[in-house]
Amino acid sequence: MPAISASAPGKIILFGEHAVVYGHPAIAAPVTQVKAKAIVTANPMAPPGYVRIQAPNIGLETDVNELPADHPLAITMGEVVRFLGVRHIPACTIRITSSIPVAAGLGSGAAVSVALIRAVSAFLGKPLDDESVSSLAFQVEKTYHGTPSGIDNTVITYGQPIYFVRGQPVVRLPVSEPFIVVIGDTGVSCPTSVTVGDVAQAWRTDPERIDQEFEQIARITDAARQVIERGKTEQLGPLMVTNHQHLQKLGVSSPELDRLVEAAQRAGALGAKLSGGGRGGNMIALVEWDRAQAIAEALTMAGAVRTIITEIKPQGRR
Ligand code: PMV
Repeated sequence: MPAISASAPGKIILFGEHAVVYGHPAIAAPVTQVKAKAIVTANPMAPPGYVRIQAPNIGLETDVNELPADHPLAITMGEVVRFLGVRHIPACTIRITSSIPVAAGLGSGAAVSVALIRAVSAFLGKPLDDESVSSLAFQVEKTYHGTPSGIDNTVITYGQPIYFVRGQPVVRLPVSEPFIVVIGDTGVSCPTSVTVGDVAQAWRTDPERIDQEFEQIARITDAARQVIERGKTEQLGPLMVTNHQHLQKLGVSSPELDRLVEAAQRAGALGAKLSGGGRGGNMIALVEWDRAQAIAEALTMAGAVRTIITEIKPQGRR
């Protein structure tokens, strides 16, 4: 039996993070320059049910039964096997690799889950459709991250720019004109659960003020959706800048993020904002394609530990 492999991209949130946890819309896009990959190879010499997991990026090589029950790979395997109603997995080796930076807000955990779910379900002869893959990956995110909105597993599964509202069917965004985004990594890692928890605390203290911020962010996200659909992407810049200001008011920016956002704008970006949970992780800048390299360099000068230049493409274009 030939090896079965599946991969999944990284992701960025373009608009609406945090507000999305409270039922407001957000826009996210895949980042195809980085990806997670899972390869399943049958191991007919081993006893049935013997599943070996290799994840060289994190120095892991073990029998799946020896993983702690709360390990994300164990949870993911358990979800797939339960969902498919499979009693015994034929003996195999599962190799997981990823070029997505870990704990940087690029969706590395969700991408590993999606790649693993796809590869294992195909290996078991029951390949899952996108909806099921995304919903299983969401179960894993929930056990691991508390109260995720589901945006990460959704955009990573569908591999297309999406307009996302929690609990509603996914809307694929028809991007009329490609646009370029430079991603800058602060190198500071802050778990999303921390900033999500702090925003929840702020909401309990002053729900009116926080709801107003969410509503402004929702308006910006809806305006951005129209702009993206109509292809007037240069108009996204000011929307990003305002979205960033609201995220600052929610208390999820940081000096490092603000420094990179300002550096991008000084270097000629059309707009910039933090992306994802905040207090670290990544920021994004909208740029004209011929300025992308210069702005990436300006971000490095301002302290970014990594930059990625990515193109947000019309639906289906590779
Ligand atoms: O930190 P990330 O990139 O996984 O982004 C999370 C986005 C939040 O809106 C802050 C949380 C969520 O679950 O949607």
